[in-house]
Amino acid sequence: MYRPVESRSFRRATLLAFGLVSVASAATLRSFSTAEARSATDVPPQVKKPARKTAKPAAKPAPKASAAAPATQGPDGKVVYSTTCAACHQATGEGVEGTYPPLANSEIVNGDEAKVVRIVLHGLTGPVEVAGETYSGMMPPWGGVLKDPELAAVLTYVRSAWGNKAAPITVSKVAAIRAATSSRTTPWTAAELATVK
Ligand code: HEC
Repeated sequence: MYRPVESRSFRRATLLAFGLVSVASAATLRSFSTAEARSATDVPPQVKKPARKTAKPAAKPAPKASAAAPATQGPDGKVVYSTTCAACHQATGEGVEGTYPPLANSEIVNGDEAKVVRIVLHGLTGPVEVAGETYSGMMPPWGGVLKDPELAAVLTYVRSAWGNKAAPITVSKVAAIRAATSSRTTPWTAAELATVK
């Protein structure tokens, strides 16, 4: 009567023990394999990504710089304007009311190049009427500061910016006027320029 009961409980205990071992070993295997998998995915991106990022942008600017070099010929008139003229005539070309005449919609800027080139080469003094207002100031000469290509570039910019629509001024035109006025040492007056053709 006793034996079957004993053997059955023994069998149950063995089964229970075996079951516990297999559950425990499965858990160990699982945690081991996930840890391994995590470290396997962690390592390669840390090695590969920075290597690619530094390699690509370093290769790109090189062809751009060499391609831009032949495109820029001569000085940039807008840059010359902002460093040499904008302090007085303003970035907008509007000037300062009562003090610095506007270059935007100026009859002088949009008019005869023989006059506007002379003004920038040697300066301008005394009363001058621009867009219905009279200014009596003094503009310093720029002929000693700006070379012919810079002068042509800045005047070409001024004659096409802010709604102005006058023709470009060439380097050779500036050079010819500079040569023809080389003995000039004082700023022009508006009255004098009226006789210049
Ligand atoms: C220090 C201030 C100053 C700077 C910088 C200056 N100008 Fe002038 N400019 C004047 C003044 C003042 C007059 C008016 C002179 C007068 O009243 O006779 C004038 C007049 C002129 C005129 C004729 C009037 C008109 O409005 O059309 C032109 C064109 C001109 N400037 C262009 C330039 C250009 C281009 C530059 C840069 C290369 C420049 N100026 C830099 C002060 C300046």
